[in-house]
Amino acid sequence: MRRPVDLQTEITQTPAWWHDAVFYQVYVRSFADGNGDGVGDLDGITSRLGYLELLGVQALWLTPFYRSPMVDHGYDVADPRDVDPLFGDLDAFDRLVTESHRRGIKITIDLVPNHTSDQHEWFRAAVLAGPDSPERERYHFLDGSGEHGELPPNNWTSIFGGPAWSRVADGQWYLHLFAPQQPDLNWANPEVAADLARTMRFWLDRGVDGFRLDVAHGMAKPDGFPDMAPGALEGAGVLHDNALDPRFDNDGVHDIHRMIRKVLDEYPGTMAVGEIWVKDSERFTRYLRADELHLGFNFQLVDADFNAESVRAAIESSLAAVATVDSPPTWTLSNHDVVRHVTRYGGGELGWRRARAMALVELALPGVVYLYNGEELGLGDVELPDWARQDPIWERSGHTELGRDGSRVPIPWEGTEAPFGFTTGTASWLPIPAEWATLTVEAQLEDPDSTLSLYREAVELRKTHPAFAGMELEWYGAPEGCFAFRRKGSGLVCALNTGPRPVPLPAGQILLSSMPLSDGQLPPDAAAWLL
Ligand code: NOJ
Repeated sequence: MRRPVDLQTEITQTPAWWHDAVFYQVYVRSFADGNGDGVGDLDGITSRLGYLELLGVQALWLTPFYRSPMVDHGYDVADPRDVDPLFGDLDAFDRLVTESHRRGIKITIDLVPNHTSDQHEWFRAAVLAGPDSPERERYHFLDGSGEHGELPPNNWTSIFGGPAWSRVADGQWYLHLFAPQQPDLNWANPEVAADLARTMRFWLDRGVDGFRLDVAHGMAKPDGFPDMAPGALEGAGVLHDNALDPRFDNDGVHDIHRMIRKVLDEYPGTMAVGEIWVKDSERFTRYLRADELHLGFNFQLVDADFNAESVRAAIESSLAAVATVDSPPTWTLSNHDVVRHVTRYGGGELGWRRARAMALVELALPGVVYLYNGEELGLGDVELPDWARQDPIWERSGHTELGRDGSRVPIPWEGTEAPFGFTTGTASWLPIPAEWATLTVEAQLEDPDSTLSLYREAVELRKTHPAFAGMELEWYGAPEGCFAFRRKGSGLVCALNTGPRPVPLPAGQILLSSMPLSDGQLPPDAAAWLL
């Protein structure tokens, strides 16, 4: 449904709803299971909307729930305009949208424009149709190199390990930057753009408020598929880039974003955030020009160690990166592709304390915050037994890389034994550790000292307190291992102590602290908000 035009006028005059929103990433497989099969689904999410309302988040980002063979857990899409039976159906999706909107929660969903599943009807047709057919033109099918075409067309590797090319029976090779079951689309073919526009309108007409664009810097490929130069791979991988890497961030990608933005502009009040693994600020902000994406994911806090200097540098460089564009900064500590921050910061009690501190740092910052489901419970990564691992990275790397399953373990809701109310069935798709009995939503909800209570309070203050206005920060002088910043103009102060000893706090009244103060001082591995 198109939004009425008078609303459009209003939107251009007031800040967009997302400019300081707290988004909550729902990893659909792992959030809540509504039908007892051990895998999270859309009805499961609808049944837990009361919880999300209590948490206070303004919008959800749902990871892919479309028809898929699930080789990459839904990022291999076989039909982008239908719901996979594992997750429900279109009616379940409509129920979720209606009920979320009734509660004032916006819904944004993943779009996967870079590739499809090898089970998508286009790819199946392409394999059957043979070389030089229009069907093959929708993907990147090339003849191989070597005397008989027996070698891949170039030396590109897949992000998941191994070559980025696989061969079909007639001898041609096709490109897949991820798993072989995720062939890359050829964006030089206008049918590809037309199909994405159709998919976008399909979901926008069903009421979605926006999209998260998967691998938003990946769709355009360089002419002639040049080899990767020596060194181009260094540091490249999920969420990480290398400026020499010809696989990503090719200039042609911006025309694609302009086309995507045009479709969104038909639906005022909707938005898109891109997953952009581009560290260079100038190149990053190209994606955020007025006719491209509204927001770009920023992974600098994911990369920063838990020390005041690194965190401050990440904050300053993130703010500087978007200073030249009309797009607020975004902040992320965890998502389904990285080790959860409790674990990154050392795990156990230490990681948990530090994660609470960083939650206060993140929620004090101007701009948009993306929470990852379960971080509000203080969950860390789980060391899974090898038999349980499902991420294609595990297989593709010949079991040398564990992959991302550890951060995707289902949410513990209630009770004292796994699967902790996640499913009415006996088992969840990844096993939930028995130790999570103390971390369930039920165990934390009424406990004022729990991580869940800390998040609830912080999100509430952020939404309602005038001290969170304004986009600029000023930094205080602080003891070594510490920092303090103030939201310019509105007054909120956030202090972080990553050093070994308690430190005095700046003057002011405490609004919230991640740990109890010790004799009026901020303890190690803690943060506080003051006014
Ligand atoms: C990024 C997604 O976040 C990740 O989970 C997925 O494996 C790749 N894109 C490929 O779609």
